[in-house]
Amino acid sequence: MANLLATKPMDVLLAESKEENEHSLKRALGPVNLITLGIGAIIGAGIFVLTGAAAAQFGGPGIVLSYIFAGTGCVFAGLCYAEFAALIPIAGSAYTYGYATLGEIFAWIIGWDLILEYAFGAATVASGWAGTIVAFLQGFGINLPPTLINVPGTQMVLYKNNWMPLATVQKTLTDSGIDWHTLPHVTAVFNLVAFLGIVLVTSVLVIGIKESANFNSAIVFVKLAAVLIFIAVAGNYVMHHMAEAKANWTPFIPPNTGTYGIYGWSGIARGAAVVFFAYIGFDAVSTAAQEARNPQKDMPIGILGSLGVCTVLYIVVSLLLTGVVHYSQLNVAAPVSLAMSLTGVWWGSLLVNVGAIAGLSTVMLVMLLGQSRVFYSMSRDGLLWKWAGEIHPRFRTPWKSTIIVGIFVAFFAALIPIGILGELVSIGTLLAFVIVCAGVWVLRRKRPDMPRPFKTPWVPFTPIAGMLAAFWLMRSLPGDTWLRLIIWLAIGMVIYFTYGTKHSKVQAGPATSLQSK
Ligand code: ALA
Repeated sequence: MANLLATKPMDVLLAESKEENEHSLKRALGPVNLITLGIGAIIGAGIFVLTGAAAAQFGGPGIVLSYIFAGTGCVFAGLCYAEFAALIPIAGSAYTYGYATLGEIFAWIIGWDLILEYAFGAATVASGWAGTIVAFLQGFGINLPPTLINVPGTQMVLYKNNWMPLATVQKTLTDSGIDWHTLPHVTAVFNLVAFLGIVLVTSVLVIGIKESANFNSAIVFVKLAAVLIFIAVAGNYVMHHMAEAKANWTPFIPPNTGTYGIYGWSGIARGAAVVFFAYIGFDAVSTAAQEARNPQKDMPIGILGSLGVCTVLYIVVSLLLTGVVHYSQLNVAAPVSLAMSLTGVWWGSLLVNVGAIAGLSTVMLVMLLGQSRVFYSMSRDGLLWKWAGEIHPRFRTPWKSTIIVGIFVAFFAALIPIGILGELVSIGTLLAFVIVCAGVWVLRRKRPDMPRPFKTPWVPFTPIAGMLAAFWLMRSLPGDTWLRLIIWLAIGMVIYFTYGTKHSKVQAGPATSLQSK
């Protein structure tokens, strides 16, 4: 009978983290690469797309508070990730931390769960990316074939010379007394744009970590420029139209409508669960630990630096957004771009759209990077098939798992609706946060002696606060999403018991169990 709570010995982990040869990942990343990797993963569909709908439907101008609450919860989790990433600088991230502290079955659950965050996360963002590109091209009068720009079953209508999903224009059509059946319409069959986006990013990832990091850094620069220019332009507009901005911010927390989550404090809470998506990605930095030159020092800088920069930017952007545009008008696909156009700066929305397209591509890149590194670690531990851990002798990347993950994710993005994907990503990520926070606390109690290059402050307060914040956000996600999570974990259990337990290297070799100590 397999010892489900067997832990991977710390000395084995530390030895693995020091391996350097043609079969290992390449140590090429410094602190700046790691911060840009984090920003590359974090700033994306959340701020550019979701903030508008969250303000319009749930939080009003108080969406700023939602950003502050979600960001604070992430800081607690981020501090725990930083301790682990410096202590156990292995590509498996939360999966490996679980293996070292809670035992193999928890490690498996978290590794399997991380697929929801990274693979489904990349697919979700690919859908948003495709939507942004399609709208951007339409701005120049270019219409791509409507059957190939959305997931199967989406009703597309031709309105004002542009093909759009019916759901996004239905209200406008109803308000104008137009029956959509009278407009040309088709049903989409495949989101080819999203598919190609993933294929492109996967190719960069196969070629090399340094190449991927450079591609990421260049694009992060464009996306940060877009965000900073928005802040400058919108900030200037608000200063010169203070009365209008104050009117837009009043009431700051619109009264609750009587339904939980629609404005009022419950709306702020629900908004926090939605905009949490905007913060996802800082933890992906930890999957690059085996490719960092000096992980002990630079991992905490990469994780906390990128999270800190993005938290500040998000709070400022959401404040300005609701100051320039009344929240009731913000339920649009490109709210930041809308605000830019209202400031009267003609090139503003073009710049924001370019920033969003560029920005979303790096989110896909870092998420896919994270996924292939987690598979790499799981395969090296014998819990997944051997091919998943093979390193290309020249590129020094886990090329087989990168390509297979890329193919699956490309199909997910082309075939599954974005709403279902997005909520699964959030619940999967929050579960990973819970396990990482618990792991820090457990390891502090079991192995207080270990030399920790970075120590999470105020343990156990910080891990407990991180867990409570994650549970609080998970609570706001719908029952269907919980059910999908449970089904997903059950599928994982079948694979673990039929393959993982039989091939686990820890089971085969001498293992220690913290529980048995
Ligand atoms: N934080 C990432 C985004 O907002 C996932 O796109």
